[in-house]
Amino acid sequence: MTQPLFQKIRGMHDILPGETHAWERVESAYRAVAAAYGYREIRIPVLEATGLFARSIGDETDIVGKEMYSFKDAGGDDLTLRPEGTAGVVRAYVEHSIPSSEPVSKWYYVGPMFRRERPQKGRYRQFHQAGAEVLGAPPPFADAELAIMLADFFGHVGLAGSTIRYNHLGGSEARSRFRGKLEEYYGGKKDSLCDDCKRRLETNPLRLLDCKVESCVALKAGAPAMRECLSEGDVAVLGRYRALLDESGVASAEEPRLVRGLDYYTGIVFEVEVATASGPVVVCGGGRYDDLVGRLGGPSTPAAGYAIGLERLMESIPEIPRPGLDLFVLVPGPASERAAARLLREARAAGIGADIDPRGGSMKSQMKRADRLGAAVVAILRKREIAAGVVSIKDMRTGDQAEVPSGDAIMGILERLGR
Ligand code: HAM
Repeated sequence: MTQPLFQKIRGMHDILPGETHAWERVESAYRAVAAAYGYREIRIPVLEATGLFARSIGDETDIVGKEMYSFKDAGGDDLTLRPEGTAGVVRAYVEHSIPSSEPVSKWYYVGPMFRRERPQKGRYRQFHQAGAEVLGAPPPFADAELAIMLADFFGHVGLAGSTIRYNHLGGSEARSRFRGKLEEYYGGKKDSLCDDCKRRLETNPLRLLDCKVESCVALKAGAPAMRECLSEGDVAVLGRYRALLDESGVASAEEPRLVRGLDYYTGIVFEVEVATASGPVVVCGGGRYDDLVGRLGGPSTPAAGYAIGLERLMESIPEIPRPGLDLFVLVPGPASERAAARLLREARAAGIGADIDPRGGSMKSQMKRADRLGAAVVAILRKREIAAGVVSIKDMRTGDQAEVPSGDAIMGILERLGR
């Protein structure tokens, strides 16, 4: 056994070629669904100024307080590996003056994010998100469309039976009334709170509803619900949102104590939880953030979005089988290799996925390799075939084998592939 000199960093993971086909499938399904809803891709840097995240996500959140990979670079700049995509997207939106040229922007992204959380199943330090942001759109049509797009995508990747749980965080007045109610409720129960929540009670009481510590979770059931503080307008928005989801057949449930772990949310927030072998996981979270563009120096702009955790999604969907190879070329030795090289080139030019065993070896071992690669068709080029100007083609699914003239080999292979 060899001993590796280096190992991956704790909480980070390799996605090996045995898995990447499934990732590619899921990502391309996501891109196709996003395009169908009028979303275009944005690619933003992985590194941003640390201040961007503190100002967007909030100093009092776990992400900014404990989980960011931040450092000073050689030039003395404070930089952070992005823990999420929204802050960078909004930074780009403002920096490139998009609001002055485009009234509504619908952007999506796929890429790695970094949070120094305690690693466990479904929680990594480098993970991937597929997200979408709609900027310039008031509630609730755009919010509902995000949820419908998500449900559509989940359907495409075989994640059936998911429910969108949502809540309305209200406007700033409603939120400050709600904060007061939370202070009143939790103030009398301070001794039962975890240390973080004792501090949150002073700094940001909404965060108390998001605590995962058992004693705090137990208190949540009796806590005041946001609905008690919502304005009539907010309640009407919630009603329209629900009606739009019902109209589209999207399963949803109002969750009156739902808050998300980022401070930029202002209106409807939501999450999607699914059951996995290792317990329930939240595969997606999002919501409205009508103040963020303004907070980052842009004009006041209503906006909403979500991000899907791709690792969690991959662990929740049915297995995606690895696609087999189209064609494997069998050669007994160097005398056939020029004919094999020509056939491979012609096949690949015709869009046929083709391979050969570069080590050579016995015909039996090459056939084994063809089998292992899941080849649909095997082409055999022995001296006899080359002399006769033919190729033997074996259909691996039926076992049928036939000789075809070399000039017709590609047509013959395509036919057997059903193309
Ligand atoms: P978030 O709720 O922090 O929201 O993350 C979204 C999703 O990313 C989570 O539901 C989860 O599936 C996944 N995720 C988060 N942390 C980890 C981790 N350590 N390991 C694996 N997966 C993880 C946001 O990031 C917002 N930017 C979403 C958004 C976009 N809101 C508006 N626009």
